[in-house]
Amino acid sequence: MKTARILTIICFVFLLPATLFAQQNKEQFINTLLSKMTLEEKIGQMTLFTSDWDVTGPTVRSNYLEDIKSGKMGSIFNAYTVKYNRVLQKAAVEETRLKIPLLFGYDVVHGHRTIFPIPLGEACSWDMAAMELSARVAATEASAEGINWTFAPMVDIARDPRWGRVAEGAGEDTYLGTQIALARVKGFQGTDLSKTNTIAACAKHYAAYGAAQAGRDYHTVDISENTLRDVYLPPFKACADAGVATFMTSFNEINGLPATGNPFLLKTILKKEWNWQGMVVTDYTSINEMVPHGFAKDNKEAGEIALNAGVDMDMQGAVYYNYTAQSLSEKKVKLADIDDAVKRVLRVKYDLGLFDDPYRYLDEKREASEVMTPENLAIARDVARKSMVLLKNEKNILPLNNNLNVAVIGPLADDAVNMIGSWSAAGDGKKATSLLQGIKARTAITGKVLYAKGCNINDDSTNQFAAAVAVARQSDVIILALGESAAMSGEAASRSDITLPGMQQELFDELKKTGKPIVVVLMNGRPLAITELDQNADAILEAWFAGTMAGHAITDILYGDYNPSGKLVMTFPRNVGQVPIHYNMKNTGRPFEANNKYTSKYLDVPNTPLYPFGYGLSYTQYKYADLKLSKSKFAMNDSLRISITVTNSGQRDGEEVVQLYIQDLVGSLTRPVKELKGFNKVMLKAGESKTLSFTIDADDLAFYNRDMVNQAEPGMFKVFAGGSSISGLEGSFELVK
Ligand code: NOJ
Repeated sequence: MKTARILTIICFVFLLPATLFAQQNKEQFINTLLSKMTLEEKIGQMTLFTSDWDVTGPTVRSNYLEDIKSGKMGSIFNAYTVKYNRVLQKAAVEETRLKIPLLFGYDVVHGHRTIFPIPLGEACSWDMAAMELSARVAATEASAEGINWTFAPMVDIARDPRWGRVAEGAGEDTYLGTQIALARVKGFQGTDLSKTNTIAACAKHYAAYGAAQAGRDYHTVDISENTLRDVYLPPFKACADAGVATFMTSFNEINGLPATGNPFLLKTILKKEWNWQGMVVTDYTSINEMVPHGFAKDNKEAGEIALNAGVDMDMQGAVYYNYTAQSLSEKKVKLADIDDAVKRVLRVKYDLGLFDDPYRYLDEKREASEVMTPENLAIARDVARKSMVLLKNEKNILPLNNNLNVAVIGPLADDAVNMIGSWSAAGDGKKATSLLQGIKARTAITGKVLYAKGCNINDDSTNQFAAAVAVARQSDVIILALGESAAMSGEAASRSDITLPGMQQELFDELKKTGKPIVVVLMNGRPLAITELDQNADAILEAWFAGTMAGHAITDILYGDYNPSGKLVMTFPRNVGQVPIHYNMKNTGRPFEANNKYTSKYLDVPNTPLYPFGYGLSYTQYKYADLKLSKSKFAMNDSLRISITVTNSGQRDGEEVVQLYIQDLVGSLTRPVKELKGFNKVMLKAGESKTLSFTIDADDLAFYNRDMVNQAEPGMFKVFAGGSSISGLEGSFELVK
């Protein structure tokens, strides 16, 4: 007994405290540094300006080098390459009084130089390892070019395809979005931020930016606290728990309070309830935007609101820079809040190892050898093909035979530049592969490869139709690349009409008249309303903006080198009037009945989507059987095992995403018709079967109730397991007290 106690003490003193000591050292170091800082230097640490390089909005200041040297600017973004950043870092650590290094932020969103598919596309892979790897490669390349902080991942749940920024997220589902957020944070930050190839991540945009009214960017958000907590906050909470280094506030207001001046979100939830110690940065001038929001009378007051709410760093607004000293002297803000903000900034710098070596991310050798390597490109190609979703494949027209003569047509067919999508900041579209280039590079093809553009992405000219039809007539099959330009999604790129832009549908209709089979390859940043294509195309492959290796990856799928395995993470509506439409809606008191007019429906379109969440075809088929529950009842402190057998009943090996949904039949608040609670992407050889198990406990069934307590309620639940949100086997269980 005595020995055991002594051992415990030894362990406590010598082993456990290693991290504790490091932690104490860190806090001691930061407190000592803070005690030496002037107010101006403190405010400098709370100030972030863009470099002149790559302006993403109005530039407030340009003489940043002077600001760095005078300690008035502690971080910079949009600055990269080793040579350039070294000059800036040198100014910070060799020409300032306290030698505090700079943070270098950048939008490394889906790759740095090697561009991966847009995040929405990647999410369709449902492959956490692939997404972690993609973020890992991005962090490696970015850190090799002097960046140590990315403004990613975007973890906004998004259910309105009109909103252009759906391209940057992981789709409509909270459970899946949370897993993906975690994979991405892990990829960027690794397990040790001080390693030279890991960078600080930023969970953005906090919060509910994706719930903008009518899908219009920056627009008002008005949602209940239950919806906020059940749907929009879980990915952020998971990032906070996983130690994400920073958070970014969002531009929008929520229920009348701009997120950047929202003490409930920032202080009450993030910093107190979640006890998160990281640093909160604003979005670009979002403090200043509280003036047009009608929430502050001028920038000075906006700065006070932000600081009092818990914003640590002002991105580009120059509000802290210009007014915080005055606000403090007028007692409108507290020194304790300024000190807390500065400590949070310094902690990130400390964790990145910048106080040990401010030049650790400035290594010319790495920059020359670790960017756009053949390995990184190969990974990008693999992630790209995993991200694509086969939406239709009549009579198994895909995969194509090498001996077919193909007419490659469409405004995006030989377009490399658009392939890297929006927010591909340091990416170079000219280094990407177009679909035509990808097909031409496939040496096994023996048929003819013909090309015609057919039309532009978004104008009303039909001048190029005739040439396209002529080429189509000489082919066995048409491969038609349609969609949007990269600039039609992303920030400030909302659309009220989400059909194919320009004359693309008309081009399709002309080509259809040739009688040749048409394989449509879609390249786009959001779900599109493509009901006519669905009716008339022979096959449709959703390729998204697939990144630097797009052309090769699409070719891999079209010719069968890769069996498509992606599943949609956002519902495709039949038309824009159905929006918002997502799989986990509520039932209403008058659920749809075909023969009852007075039920919840439209007169002119079914309630069902064109393609549901979780949907995606393969070149093989999967059959589901034997849904088994380990018990029919289980208690709050117990768990339930659900198993299902999936068989690859077709001729090709493939990967299937097995999905588990649950419906809480009766609640103290109404519950969605189903909610994703588990998934597993599994490789199955042709003919192979696997039995998969999922474990569910009360936490998985919890939701925020009327008292804003997150808990499960006893009662009956349904289980659905299968290959999409609308197919699969059904079971049920009871949760008892
Ligand atoms: C505005 C965008 O909303 C945000 O996502 C981005 O990180 C910043 N600009 C910085 O470029």
